[in-house]
Amino acid sequence: MTRIKKIGVLTSGGDAPGMNAAIRAVTRTAIYNELEVIGIRHGYKGLIEENFKQLKSHSVSDIIQRGGTILKTARCHEFKTSQGRKQAYENLKKNNIDGVVVIGGDGTFTGARIFNEEYDIPFVGVPGTIDNDIYGTDYTIGYDTALNTVAEAVDKIRDTASAHNRLFFIEVMGKESGFIALRSGIACGAEAILIPEIKNQLASLKSQLEDGFKRKKSSNIIIVAEGEEEGGAFQIADKVKKDFKDYSVRVTVLGHIQRGGSPTSFDRVSASRLGYAAVEALCDDQKSSMVGIQHDKIALVPFRKAVKLHKEISKEMLEIANILSI
Ligand code: F6P
Repeated sequence: MTRIKKIGVLTSGGDAPGMNAAIRAVTRTAIYNELEVIGIRHGYKGLIEENFKQLKSHSVSDIIQRGGTILKTARCHEFKTSQGRKQAYENLKKNNIDGVVVIGGDGTFTGARIFNEEYDIPFVGVPGTIDNDIYGTDYTIGYDTALNTVAEAVDKIRDTASAHNRLFFIEVMGKESGFIALRSGIACGAEAILIPEIKNQLASLKSQLEDGFKRKKSSNIIIVAEGEEEGGAFQIADKVKKDFKDYSVRVTVLGHIQRGGSPTSFDRVSASRLGYAAVEALCDDQKSSMVGIQHDKIALVPFRKAVKLHKEISKEMLEIANILSI
């Protein structure tokens, strides 16, 4: 028998489409298991400030299709301090909360891991970030929606790029990783994809563009991850322009549009599975772990691994991108 009677749920870090679907799944799975559910607003900040509200089944009606997060989110510096975590613990104790589901990315899990080293209230994580850069899960909530948002935007840019015979550099999110860039680049048939994981790409990009010109290729779409080593799409464009003076170059930064919008059915279903699995894990006395999806099965991954180990970019995907862009 589980000792858990009441759980909290929060979203933290950058929001991602599908977070609401995860909140819904956590809430309803908990209620099904006769647990009380407390929504913690504004992430760890709300935990420290005791910004709590009880969630009932109807509190999460009509949210599965909505982007953003009904619980709000924040990046919280105070939770990085022992004083902040102590206050969080006292608030959880005072409200008789026996376990917490945290929905977010690596910053969220790092905080949860430290908290669980210090205090005995178990935290279980649900990976929610458009970046898909969490070790131990094939997909994070929001990634698929962001890819579709990028694809829709790039398709439109391609129309105008082609009409004007232009070279476009399109910057997508991914502060430290190229998962969005690589997959969206393949989906949009990009001529080249520049990501932080691959170094010294400028020379090969220039020679690829040169070859294209010889073949009378009139327009090009280059996808650039924001964390790319040259410093993003504008910087890359400046360096390329110098060698291609006759070519009309434009830059588009897609920005936060990638974080919003109604989640795809893939993200809604992943969020529903992961939210359900997180509550099951708490009921099974698990702690300091994230629930992930590996080969379409739910897997439990210790925070220790999820935050320390680096998720590798797929070599196969890189090769496919290269081959298909010739
Ligand atoms: O959510 C992750 C992420 O999208 C990164 O790719 C990006 O660099 C960052 O968030 C920007 O977030 P913010 O505007 O909240 O600082």
